[in-house]
Amino acid sequence: MKMPDNNQRSEKTNKPLFIVFEGIDGSGKSTQARMLADYLTSRGLPVLLTAEPSEGPIGSQIRSLKCRAEPEEEARLFTEDREDHLRRTIIPALEQGSTVICDRYVYSSAAYQGARGIPVERILAENGAFAMPADVTFLIEIDVDTAMKRIASGRANTFTTFEIRSDLEKVDKIYRSLIDPHIIRIDGSGSPEQVHKLIQEGLNDLGCP
Ligand code: ADP
Ligand code: TYD
Repeated sequence: MKMPDNNQRSEKTNKPLFIVFEGIDGSGKSTQARMLADYLTSRGLPVLLTAEPSEGPIGSQIRSLKCRAEPEEEARLFTEDREDHLRRTIIPALEQGSTVICDRYVYSSAAYQGARGIPVERILAENGAFAMPADVTFLIEIDVDTAMKRIASGRANTFTTFEIRSDLEKVDKIYRSLIDPHIIRIDGSGSPEQVHKLIQEGLNDLGCP
């Protein structure tokens, strides 16, 4: 399942990179996004670390929901949040020369709303109409059991409504089916430092510091 490539940012240029982290809950995205931001900052690069759902009004609305919205409504909310996030945060930061690291983006909609029955191709097409593609997406792969264990130990056994095992299995399946040359699949089973090293190597292969 492929996202339309309607943007030339991914061609080799001096533009700051738009880097996305994807993966199921508990895969270690937030940990790795933070580690990469610290690493690039330590190399003197201006970096903006951000996430979806965003901290804007629609993202806050999503976070405040007591239970999940109906699938179509949920897809609409994440898409609207993404438009707002791009306009308000991501594009201005890139224009000011910052590397942007975003924890979740279009492929989260494909995987999570796709897992609720919305056709993945439709989600990718609707998002592809407005959302610039990332220069690189690190997709952290880990088995669902390990992810569930990590979530449980990190949060004293509390799970959100997004983290039901059968749902995460569907989400995982969609992530594994995605086809995009800008996706780098990372084995997330090692220690945080080992995973970070794989990500650094992936960036080096792209000619980045
Ligand atoms: P995500 O953002 O994908 O949900 P987090 O980065 O928040 O994942 O990590 C989920 C939990 O697993 C946290 O408690 C975190 O400290 C822990 N964790 C993250 N990466 C690893 C790793 N490589 N090995 C073991 N535990 C990890
Ligand atoms: P988040 O707080 O990033 O969860 P985590 O840190 O555990 O990865 O995101 C909350 C949930 O939002 C997450 O379970 C996935 C879901 N989500 C979607 O369903 N669609 C989307 O487009 C996005 C961006 C997130």
